[in-house]
Amino acid sequence: MNTYIGIDLGTSAVKLLLADKLGKVLNSVSVSYPVNIPQVNFSEQDPKRWWSATISGLKTLLSTTNKKDVKAISFSGQMHGLVILDKDDNVIRPCILWNDNRSEEFTQLLNKNKKKLNALTGNIAFNGFTAPKIMWVKKYEPQSFKKINKIMLPKDYLIYQFTKCFATDYSDAAGTLLLDVKRKKWSDEMLKIVGVKKEQLPKIYESYQVVSKIDKKIAKELGLSNDVKIVAGGADNAIAAIGTNTIKNNACNISLGTSGTILIASDTYHDGKTLPIHSFNHANGKYYLMGCILSAASAYNWWSQIVNQKVSRKINIKKNDIYFLPYLTGERCPYNDPSATGAFFNLRSNTTSEEMSLAVLEGVTFALKDCLNIARDMGIDVKETMVCGGGAKSDIWPSLIANILNVNVKLINADEGPGLGAAILAMVANKEYKSIEQATNKIVKVTKVIKKDSKLVSYYQKKYLTYRKLYPLIKKI
Ligand code: XUL
Repeated sequence: MNTYIGIDLGTSAVKLLLADKLGKVLNSVSVSYPVNIPQVNFSEQDPKRWWSATISGLKTLLSTTNKKDVKAISFSGQMHGLVILDKDDNVIRPCILWNDNRSEEFTQLLNKNKKKLNALTGNIAFNGFTAPKIMWVKKYEPQSFKKINKIMLPKDYLIYQFTKCFATDYSDAAGTLLLDVKRKKWSDEMLKIVGVKKEQLPKIYESYQVVSKIDKKIAKELGLSNDVKIVAGGADNAIAAIGTNTIKNNACNISLGTSGTILIASDTYHDGKTLPIHSFNHANGKYYLMGCILSAASAYNWWSQIVNQKVSRKINIKKNDIYFLPYLTGERCPYNDPSATGAFFNLRSNTTSEEMSLAVLEGVTFALKDCLNIARDMGIDVKETMVCGGGAKSDIWPSLIANILNVNVKLINADEGPGLGAAILAMVANKEYKSIEQATNKIVKVTKVIKKDSKLVSYYQKKYLTYRKLYPLIKKI
């Protein structure tokens, strides 16, 4: 029996999954690692730690299986992180992660001419993106900058260890702000602006293409065949969308992880104009629009740990007038404001921690609605959405999404979208299926549909109007 491995290189852990060609998950393993915060606004990880976690996770994953059945491995990776290697392939400095806000000076500089930036890349700059991070290293760590031989994204570091091939894919390259998303090639002009050379950047593959066979030494260490294919994979949000069958034009997927994203697949390129939304390449060779908020399940986890109180299904939603702004690490979409902060409003002496927990879930969901509204204003019609990631397992959150976003919600048969999405790419690369769409139609099954409730939709429309007024108010002070 042929088997496939999906490796989801996340922010809090690497999650590995072994599946057969019907998408049945045979085993899964998670190995966690910390995010290092050397100072306020910084967020880093050591790429070598990702690799050791991946290898130890693979050994556990493979311990109960016939290793020779494994045919291909693919990836889903946290986006935007800057990994730099010197000429001897040493990691020069820790990876600067997607939620690091140190590069504000360069984000602002690039955004002085948003129209030009949009024409070159399809996007405007955000601190999370890779280009402003490179500019930061150039100015503040010139010694490191001089040593750069290779620039890569987090999952590309794993590909490099597995194959010694310097490779990325379009969905991840799109988040660097160095790619001309529409024409699918590195933008010479952006490279000039940022100060990097094309030789320092990886070759770009489609997510479902084979980069190379596995390095023989690694194959031996893991007990795998030398013929195992290493498949490019892609950005975690794009791969999560594959894992939830979010492929058709205007199909939507919400991912509730450390970050929260709302991704709308598109057959054609959407000009994001200069709006605070991302216009990127999808893992099936097409495109998508995406809004990203920096604290989603992470905001709820932060709060739950403090009060040890989850929201029960019995809570009277309409009696809760507490509000929460989820900007615990600044905010990406729609405000592009690293100094935004979180806040509770309307607290009284009889407010319960459960009401505050509900407000946290609502606040994160209102922030996702802000992102969806940008797409709706562009004329994109979204009537239903898939939901994946840790937050999808909550009893109540998917129904809040339905009622706050005014959509029907669908949940699928797998716990995690990205790992399954990566395994699907491995299957397609090994020709188990003719196309990604054929694979996802066969493998991804909707297990639950949550219909919106019109009374709660109108209740939340009103509550959202008040929510919208809060950020501008506290911004002033
Ligand atoms: C998307 C983004 C995050 C990370 C999380 O633009 O920055 O969703 O990909 O891993």
